Amino acid sequence: MTDTPASPSGPSPRPAVRAVHIPVLLKETLAALDLRPGMTVVDGTVGAGGHSRKILEAIRPGGTLIGVDRDSMMLRLAAENLGESPDVVLKQSSYAELDAVLDELAVPAVDRVLVDLGLSSDQLADRERGFGFKAGGPLDLRFDVRHGQPASELLRTADVQQLTDIFRDYGEDANAHRIAHAIVQGRSKSPIETAEQLARVVEQASPGRRGDTHPATRVFQALRIAVNEELEQLKRLLGDVAPRRIRSGGRLVVISFHSLEDRYVKDAFRETERWEPLTKKPVTGTPTEERLNPRSRSAKLRAAVRR
Ligand SMILES: C[S@@+](CC[C@H](N)C(=O)[O-])C[C@H]1O[C@@H](n2cnc3c(N)ncnc32)[C@H](O)[C@@H]1O
Repeated sequence: MTDTPASPSGPSPRPAVRAVHIPVLLKETLAALDLRPGMTVVDGTVGAGGHSRKILEAIRPGGTLIGVDRDSMMLRLAAENLGESPDVVLKQSSYAELDAVLDELAVPAVDRVLVDLGLSSDQLADRERGFGFKAGGPLDLRFDVRHGQPASELLRTADVQQLTDIFRDYGEDANAHRIAHAIVQGRSKSPIETAEQLARVVEQASPGRRGDTHPATRVFQALRIAVNEELEQLKRLLGDVAPRRIRSGGRLVVISFHSLEDRYVKDAFRETERWEPLTKKPVTGTPTEERLNPRSRSAKLRAAVRR
């Protein structure tokens, strides 16, 4: 984009386009990042650039934002929202592959890394991959369709025990075994290829369930975590990549939405020879934010300084 207006502190981000996602814990994230002009910051889950727009404002002039996302659709939204500028670099990659991204840019170490895990509201609205089961579409659930297997393939091949483990561990679903059994029984007659088909099977296997949350919500979350190997990616970031690529005195800020993710972050920050935690307890949303942005209800932010 060449028409981005220049200013003494660098081009300012354009008005937000199309993205429906509202960044969670924005004020709290910026406080934890403690940014200054000139810093090099990685937004490891740049999404549509909600957090990154504010990060850019704080690190200009002289700073660099490296925005990473596994999903090319999200990177297109980020590019539109952040505008083309020499201080913004966007890369399709997992944050767990940050070494390769930074090596390619010849950046040995960075000042800050942010990851805001999980799914963007913009992906929920996408009918191509079945993220939002109410929107429908083929049951894929991968952020990056170039790698791994679609969720429909997992449902075609996994046995009852494997599916039960996924729904129980990643979906925290008390009905895990029953749903897994219904899938395996039903698939011999008709394979589950779409989000609508899976939502129907889950509904039928969850009799008498009431409440705000559709019974399929947890099952879709669990399958998404499984096909994207989300916990493995986080483990690699925490245990290996972030300690190596964040400079001494730099910071890592993680926003998680699942109890297993939060436990990994808490445990990693207990390694006191590597990290000095800035949050004893996770930071959560205010009642006002939770009312305005329901996604923030399960958000937990933890931050630490690299020693
Ligand atoms: C909650 S959204 C981020 C929203 C962003 N902070 C904003 O304010 O617009 C999470 C994003 O992380 C991406 N993502 C998930 N796992 C990833 C991974 N391992 N590496 C890079 N991006 C990932 C998803 O594609 C999604 O765009």
